[in-house]
Amino acid sequence: MTSLSVRSAKPTTIRTDAVVIGVTNTMKRLAAAGPGRSVQDAFGRGFVPMLASLGFEAKPGQVASLPSAHVIRSPVVVVVGLGDEGSLDHESLRRAAAIGVKAVTNAVSVALALPTDGAADVRAVGEGALLGLYAFDRYRADPAVDRPGDVVLVTEDARHKDVKAAVTTAETVARAVNLARDWVNTPSCDLTPQLFAAAITDHKSDAKVAVRVLDDKTLAKQGCGGILGVGRGSDNPPRLVGLEYSPRRPKAHLALVGKGITFDSGGLSLKTGPGMMTMKCDMSGAAAVVAATYAIAELGLPVKVSAYAPLAENMPSGTATRPGDVLTMRSGATVEVHNTDAEGRLVLADALDMATETDADVIVDVATLTGACVVALGTRTAGVLSNDERLHARLPEIAGRAGEPMWSLPIPEEMKTKVTSSQLADLRQHNPEPYGGTLFAAAFLREFVKDRRWVHIDIAGPAFNDHEAHGYTPKGGTGAAVRTLVRLAQEAADGALSPG
Ligand code: BES
Ligand code: MN
Ligand code: ZN
Repeated sequence: MTSLSVRSAKPTTIRTDAVVIGVTNTMKRLAAAGPGRSVQDAFGRGFVPMLASLGFEAKPGQVASLPSAHVIRSPVVVVVGLGDEGSLDHESLRRAAAIGVKAVTNAVSVALALPTDGAADVRAVGEGALLGLYAFDRYRADPAVDRPGDVVLVTEDARHKDVKAAVTTAETVARAVNLARDWVNTPSCDLTPQLFAAAITDHKSDAKVAVRVLDDKTLAKQGCGGILGVGRGSDNPPRLVGLEYSPRRPKAHLALVGKGITFDSGGLSLKTGPGMMTMKCDMSGAAAVVAATYAIAELGLPVKVSAYAPLAENMPSGTATRPGDVLTMRSGATVEVHNTDAEGRLVLADALDMATETDADVIVDVATLTGACVVALGTRTAGVLSNDERLHARLPEIAGRAGEPMWSLPIPEEMKTKVTSSQLADLRQHNPEPYGGTLFAAAFLREFVKDRRWVHIDIAGPAFNDHEAHGYTPKGGTGAAVRTLVRLAQEAADGALSPG
């Protein structure tokens, strides 16, 4: 991956292949912002009229590349639109950084001279650049895009301790997001439960994270009827990966649970062809919690993390679970299966039950759980459901600070009745009514968290981008929720999770 560094050099004299600057449009007046100002000054009075002639209005997302013709030392100036000066925030910096670095081709090094005010801004620029430069070319002879080897962040405060730390954090977080993206993008044939478990175990990290893999026999011993019930239709047996990061004096303890369906065909309740096309992404929750756990450990955050990734392949076959079957879950509850395509809640239920055996302050699960959530919130916003009012309010705020849109959805009282309305078992797995599918699924999960404080994040929309790349979000796997989980740990270290 591209390396990130920070320097207090001048954008006019720095020797890189390209310099990216930001231009704002405040009441129709264009002006280079922050360190980019010196580049505008070097070009002189013709700079703004030249941008206007190029049709550049400094709208967010807009970009123009100019030959610098020896006006500054670097041969190319990339100008990115920042919109109104007053609208600048971390998210616009992330996007601008990504759009700037992506506009440069055939370069070894790029300087990013965007306006930053302090460490948090520098972190946003660094994150945006590394996230924007992501490409998945494991299956190509020739890489589809060429990326610069070095990205240099230009800021006057380059020597400040907190700015240096911000660059390290940006790098760690972006690497974690990109790791999750790699796993999501890997086709299901190369990421069976076994292979995914091996990839998690083999992940190179200097940080101390204990990893254990429970195979199907061990899962049977533990009575994990949900995970085994989903996995039994496949020739690739299920696994559960547990990770533990235990720092010396933890200020909080998080239990993270991620849905890890390595392929979701729907099982006997088979999906349509187009409906299963992208279902290699159904392990995005597991990828997120694992990548976030490694990042939290690498950052050395004083938060204990216990993570659980139940991994199974949901396939139809002569051994598959049938609609109408009853499963006995790890918790002891029995579940009547109505639709084998509602498999995520079954594997999560067993893993949530394990998580209740820790002394975690909060349990967070992340899952590509319901198409209904995409209908409700679109493809870029995750749904947040919880049994704890305070957490429910806090989590979307934390996600917002991490740059990930999330929105609260309720678990209405009626869903409790529906979940417990099975004719023959304790719980029913699926609500035949086509309404409120996300809410029903959350009500089902809630049955397995006992009295623990719990948040459920449904990332069915944002986990996988079927459309064109935008900002720092690529096509395919996005690494959704990784940044939120790392941010949650950072804020938990500062007491954000304390009840009441
Ligand atoms: N993995 C899917 C949900 C999904 C849909 C994720 C679209 C990403 C994009 C999940 O297992 C599923 O199939 N859910 C069903 C539930 C239904 C049968 C109650 C759905 O949403 O249709
Ligand atoms: Mn499904
Ligand atoms: Zn699924």
